[in-house]
Amino acid sequence: MTSQLTRPAAEQKPSAGSTMISLEQLTKRYPGQDEPAVAALDLAVPEGEIVVLVGPSGCGKTTTMKMINRIIEPSSGTIRLEGEDVTRSSPDELRRRIGYVIQQIGLFPHMTIADNVAVVPKLLKWDGKRTKARVDEMLELVGMDPGTYRSRYPKELSGGQRQRIGVARALAADPPVMLMDEPFGAVDPIAREKLQNEFLRLQEDIGKTIVFVTHDIDEAIKMGDRIAVLREQSVIAQYDTPERILSDPADEFVAEFIGAGASLKRLGLARVRDFTLADYPTSPLRDGRDAAAAALARSGVSSILLLDEERRPARWAGPADLRRATGSLERIGTPVNGVVQPQATLAGALDAMVSSRVGAVVVVDGRGAYLGTVDMGVIMAAAETMRAAARENAGEPSTADAQDRLSSTPGTDDEPAARP
Ligand SMILES: Nc1ncnc2c1ncn2[C@@H]1O[C@H](COP(=O)(O)OP(=O)(O)O)[C@@H](O)[C@H]1O
Ligand SMILES: [Mg+2]
Repeated sequence: MTSQLTRPAAEQKPSAGSTMISLEQLTKRYPGQDEPAVAALDLAVPEGEIVVLVGPSGCGKTTTMKMINRIIEPSSGTIRLEGEDVTRSSPDELRRRIGYVIQQIGLFPHMTIADNVAVVPKLLKWDGKRTKARVDEMLELVGMDPGTYRSRYPKELSGGQRQRIGVARALAADPPVMLMDEPFGAVDPIAREKLQNEFLRLQEDIGKTIVFVTHDIDEAIKMGDRIAVLREQSVIAQYDTPERILSDPADEFVAEFIGAGASLKRLGLARVRDFTLADYPTSPLRDGRDAAAAALARSGVSSILLLDEERRPARWAGPADLRRATGSLERIGTPVNGVVQPQATLAGALDAMVSSRVGAVVVVDGRGAYLGTVDMGVIMAAAETMRAAARENAGEPSTADAQDRLSSTPGTDDEPAARP
């Protein structure tokens, strides 16, 4: 499928450091308030990145966000979009260049899903055919089958589905910029995690410039290429990469905002795909018991992963399970539950691993086929990578020794005993 949204990789992040949005001394004083809600904010948002504004409730995040598309007019200061001063240009024109997703989603209840997604194309007076094609394309993009959902109404969808429609609507006119104010705040934690992952995967294709607001530091760490930690009046306490915020908080305020467990949070930054996976022995279910037993014996570990016809993980089995098996292997050993995809964070993988009886979580591709596993060896190697990076940030030389350990495959050659 060729999408208007999908650009060649080379174009996604053009000249590194090119600024999409620039806020200069941006200030908002609400009538009748002594103190400004936002005081002289300077912020540069690089093209193609997700910049997260995070800070306590009432610190001015929403006000800042709404000034960017001038739903709230600034009291003073300048907003530039791609270098152009838009502080006093037509707000309608501006909003076409900026998609907006909010926590309450704001779908129109009496309009179908298709009409909701088509709001901006209709404002732009696209013809019916182009609009319909675009609506279907957007629904597919956010993983909602157009045939099934096009004619439904918002109340017929779950919270997570409504949120996806909110994203589809914001993307419909292909704006270069998206503003997202607590976009996943209205759904339960499991749906939220799923929406976050989906959105990050989507962003890999669309490469939009995104300003994302949250009060949740974990969400900020997960979603942000850069994070601006804000204190009262949108004063920037630190504007940095998630790694630097966690390893080198600028002051007490930032450290306190991160809270306890910064090391554990760093696992929330690392993606499963960035590490060498542990490779457990596998055997197709249909090859039967003797083939599986032979593969397991060759491997020197104590569990084998049995795969179905599509190479999807089906069961974990040990030698005793295989000895007892008669006929089909489909019910022996333990089921494989809680698989993760390569985009999952190590924090997510660790969580699944701890609750797995085998002590390893299986990684699968988009079709569910086996790729490898994350076990304690993978987590330990990842922790060492992050410690080395933190040492480097702090200006200490990172040891060659640490580098060596990072590049070797954890838990495969030298420590098979650590595996199930
Ligand atoms: N329309 C308004 N009129 C007056 N004060 C407002 C208005 N909107 C927000 N404020 C005040 O401005 C400050 C920042 O609010 P807001 O931007 O909504 O913060 P956040 O999104 O970080 O929770 C708060 O003190 C809030 O009470
Ligand atoms: Mg807010």
